[in-house]
Amino acid sequence: MALLEVRDLWVRYGSVEAVRGVSFAVEPGEISTLIGANGAGKSSTLLALSGLVRASEGEILYEGQNIAGWKTDRIVKAGLVQVAEGRAILGPLTVAENLELGGWTRGGASLRPDLHRVYDLFPRLGDRRRQLAGTLSGGEQQMLAIGRALMARPKLLLLDEPSMGLAPLLINAVFEIIQNIHAEGTTVLLVEQNARKALKISRTAAVLENGKIVRRGLAADLFHDPAVAQAFLGVRSQH
Ligand SMILES: Nc1ncnc2c1ncn2[C@@H]1O[C@H](COP(=O)(O)OP(=O)(O)O)[C@@H](O)[C@H]1O
Ligand SMILES: [Mg+2]
Repeated sequence: MALLEVRDLWVRYGSVEAVRGVSFAVEPGEISTLIGANGAGKSSTLLALSGLVRASEGEILYEGQNIAGWKTDRIVKAGLVQVAEGRAILGPLTVAENLELGGWTRGGASLRPDLHRVYDLFPRLGDRRRQLAGTLSGGEQQMLAIGRALMARPKLLLLDEPSMGLAPLLINAVFEIIQNIHAEGTTVLLVEQNARKALKISRTAAVLENGKIVRRGLAADLFHDPAVAQAFLGVRSQH
């Protein structure tokens, strides 16, 4: 059974149809990626999965249950956790406090092993654990946002453009970290404009265009699809 199966999802903002009948699945243990131009409906899709915007129509089957209509906190507690676009860390709190907030789903359980896991993945966060989050660099804030999501022990981690706005070296670091998180057993649904890198680390992929999926399949096949290459990989057609 797929960990996540989205069936005919629609998201509307008033008269704007941002997501128009999207269907795809994420299998347990894989990295899957959604690619598409700005405004294609990628964020709207992820926000709907997390209950942060309402799905106007469609089914969101997570572990076989239709979670469309569930509140976000219930979805997070079930292990579907999102690192939203733009990071949204709490600047006036320390790094450690931000991480502890990410562990709110865990009740009274000790967060120490989870904090250590995050500091192992992101040594720079460990070095800066008592520093105010607002003083971190953009790259460190992105690491913190990912670390905070991990504190909820996600089964399915949704990442919305984690490399956005970062310098090339940091972009590589973010992609490496995604692979490390995946290697430790977390299933990942990745949204990226950096299609080349996203396709390289993913098993499956879908291409969104104007709210619709226009291509779907193995990431390696999409990587070599001339239409995808031309639109997203900066490769010119031979003709
Ligand atoms: N809160 C909103 N209100 C109205 N329109 C929105 C809102 N959020 C996104 N949109 C529109 O929905 C479409 C899809 O946006 P979005 O899901 O953010 O795309 P992407 O993440 O692929 O860039 C765009 O046309 C965008 O302008
Ligand atoms: Mg977006």
